Amino acid sequence: MTLEAKKIVVALLSVLFLLSLLVVAWIEGGKQRLVPQPPMELTVESEGCYECHKEKTPGIAAQWADSRHARLGVGCYECHQAKEGEVDGWKHEGRWIATVVTPGDCGRCHAAIQAEFEKSHHAKGGQILGSLDNVLGEIVEGPAATNLGCRQCHGSKIEFAKDPSGQIARGNEGKPLFDTATWPNSGIGRINPDGTLGSCGACHSRHRFAVAMSRRPESCGKCHMGPDHPQAEIYEESKHGIAFAVAVDQGLMSLEGEEWIVGRDYNAAPTCATCHMSATRTQPSTHDPGERISWTLRPEVSKHTEDWERKRERMRDVCSACHTPDWIDAHYRQYDAVVELYNEKFAKPGGRIMAALREAGVLTPTPFDEEIEWTWYFLWHHEGRRMRMGASMMGPDYTQWHGAFEVGHRFYEEFIPQARGLGEGKPQALAVLEEVMGSPEHAWKKGLDPKVREQLSDFYRKKYGQEVR
Ligand code: HEC
Ligand code: HEC
Ligand code: HEC
Ligand code: HEC
Ligand code: HEC
Ligand code: HEC
Ligand code: HEC
Ligand code: HEC
Repeated sequence: MTLEAKKIVVALLSVLFLLSLLVVAWIEGGKQRLVPQPPMELTVESEGCYECHKEKTPGIAAQWADSRHARLGVGCYECHQAKEGEVDGWKHEGRWIATVVTPGDCGRCHAAIQAEFEKSHHAKGGQILGSLDNVLGEIVEGPAATNLGCRQCHGSKIEFAKDPSGQIARGNEGKPLFDTATWPNSGIGRINPDGTLGSCGACHSRHRFAVAMSRRPESCGKCHMGPDHPQAEIYEESKHGIAFAVAVDQGLMSLEGEEWIVGRDYNAAPTCATCHMSATRTQPSTHDPGERISWTLRPEVSKHTEDWERKRERMRDVCSACHTPDWIDAHYRQYDAVVELYNEKFAKPGGRIMAALREAGVLTPTPFDEEIEWTWYFLWHHEGRRMRMGASMMGPDYTQWHGAFEVGHRFYEEFIPQARGLGEGKPQALAVLEEVMGSPEHAWKKGLDPKVREQLSDFYRKKYGQEVR
């Protein structure tokens, strides 16, 4: 063999050796992810839980072992511990624990966050008993649907099953058994056995409790979606959502890190958390997403939130990491104009007509037993919200086709004709209706301006060679 040939063989062998090392490293690395390492220091209490649950419920144990909590020694017992005699507690393998982990339990270590969360609308999201929606859910639809519908988003009041003597029913080890109509539940405003409100797990899925997950739009999208509050869909449609999808694909944006400051740690796109919760260069993060909201878009007629100017300033501060003041101003002007258009042209007049019909005695006090009540509900609760919400977060299709278009159709083609029918023989109700329809923004119903007609004909003649009739 020549020297040259020997050199080539040696080179090939060393490449092979290097490759085999890489393969071994890769396999071992993979194993490390699959078989989590026991954490550094655990309390004796938690050590026992982990060792047994590693066998009994390996999924839970592995998810936890892969968490920041595990690395810091925050173990099973630190979260699940209960005081002897606590209503949801029982003695499990020698220690008092509870299944439910409430904001009060998390708050033992995260007190400031618990306090912020507690004063938010989120924490009160379970208190929907008095609402029209609740009549719809509980009575018009039925309780089983409410339990797995409304309450999985809003939160249930956790209750326990009762035995025939009226005591809490108990299972193995004397474990109190849940009323399964109310559990499992991770609704945002859950009413817990210890009296605290909410569920931190609504956004921080167990048992990894990874902050990166809560920063993703999907974690809000469980609840903020659908026909009456399609924020997830609006975001996905918006330039922000598109930028986020691409940024994540191309690795332009990390969601990790104790600090996650827009304009410093990432720039590619904002997520729901960025705008509503996370820190900016001048603002700390918050667990009250209402702190940056200037209008409430939920009721029939939108109104400003308390202290709305300051709240708007906080949101503008988020935008300012990526946009100039004039750009942000212009967005808010466009948005305000849509809210006011909806309020003044449709919501307030519609509300006046509904009130006039009630006063005339043609509607029973029972909601949803007359067609016009469904019509009106669709108008403000679904379509009117979509119109406003689309405008707030740059989703043009929700502002227009799922929003304003549907509002217009519902108002002119269903609401007004139904109101006219009901108002027959009730001059006062009809007078209100005619006054509404006589106002300039509804005058087009009496005939289009000839100039607009001419424009219409022109457009279709030029574009398609067709006449409009
Ligand atoms: C020797 C094994 C073992 C040990 C130790 C142990 N567990 Fe369990 N745990 C189980 C098994 C098995 C179940 C299911 C029991 C059943 O359904 O009767 C369970 C049930 C539970 C539940 C109830 C879940 C539900 O559906 O309500 C919780 C919470 C829990 N364990 C947490 C802990 C914690 C915290 C510790 C440590 C303080 C611990 N476990 C220690 C085996 C163990
Ligand atoms: C940071 C707090 C925290 C830690 C640490 C923690 N848990 Fe949990 N665990 C929760 C929460 C929150 C829930 C959901 C219950 C709720 O919504 O209140 C839960 C639920 C459970 C359940 C019932 C859920 C099911 O899917 O069956 C079991 C069992 C359980 N945990 C066991 C463990 C074990 C074992 C460990 C340790 C390996 C552990 N937990 C560590 C917070 C924690
Ligand atoms: C025994 C104390 C303790 C308890 C109880 C506890 N935590 Fe933590 N948690 C910590 C510590 C310490 C950290 C790391 C420092 C920090 O971020 O505040 C942490 C970090 C976190 C993080 C950030 C994780 C990451 O990816 O960076 C989240 C989210 C979290 N906790 C949520 C919860 C929730 C939700 C509960 C209740 C279900 C809870 N914690 C209960 C001590 C605790
Ligand atoms: C998919 C999750 C989800 C379901 C299911 C759901 N909601 Fe909601 N609900 C929400 C969200 C999110 C909001 C807040 C929307 C916003 O502000 O954009 C809301 C708002 C409300 C409000 C308005 C609160 C206010 O401050 O004005 C009421 C009342 C309500 N829901 C009751 C119900 C009832 C009753 C049901 C069942 C018939 C139900 N919801 C079903 C997620 C849900
Ligand atoms: C509405 C969703 C939501 C709920 C509910 C929620 N969190 Fe968070 N949480 C987040 C988001 C988003 C972040 C990331 C903020 C950021 O970008 O820094 C976060 C961050 C955290 C962190 C990391 C440290 C920090 O200061 O940011 C902790 C700890 C935490 N949450 C604990 C809790 C506890 C405890 C509760 C219940 C009282 C709770 N969270 C409820 C969404 C939520
Ligand atoms: C488990 C369901 C659920 C999840 C998850 C959830 N929300 Fe909500 N959110 C609600 C409900 C319900 C309301 C309305 C509460 C009310 O007014 O009664 C609401 C209200 C809001 C509001 C209006 C607050 C106000 O004060 O007017 C904002 C903003 C908001 N959520 C943002 C978020 C963001 C951002 C996330 C994700 C980080 C998120 N939510 C996750 C259910 C949820
Ligand atoms: C670019 C920033 C931005 C992003 C990203 C964003 N939002 Fe918003 N959001 C806004 C603004 C601005 C408003 C209107 C605030 C106001 O009225 O002052 C708003 C309003 C809301 C409201 C209040 C509705 C009400 O009933 O009053 C909710 C709830 C909400 N957003 C949830 C979400 C969710 C969920 C996501 C992600 C899927 C998201 N937002 C993404 C900026 C954002
Ligand atoms: C992390 C950076 C970032 C933040 C924060 C941010 N945006 Fe944007 N914004 C973008 C990007 C990227 C685009 C897409 C630009 C393009 O298409 O060329 C965009 C586009 C827009 C558009 C144009 C939408 C369209 O369809 O053309 C508006 C309006 C807008 N943002 C308003 C806001 C407002 C208001 C806020 C705060 C509530 C905000 N943005 C926060 C990055 C951001």
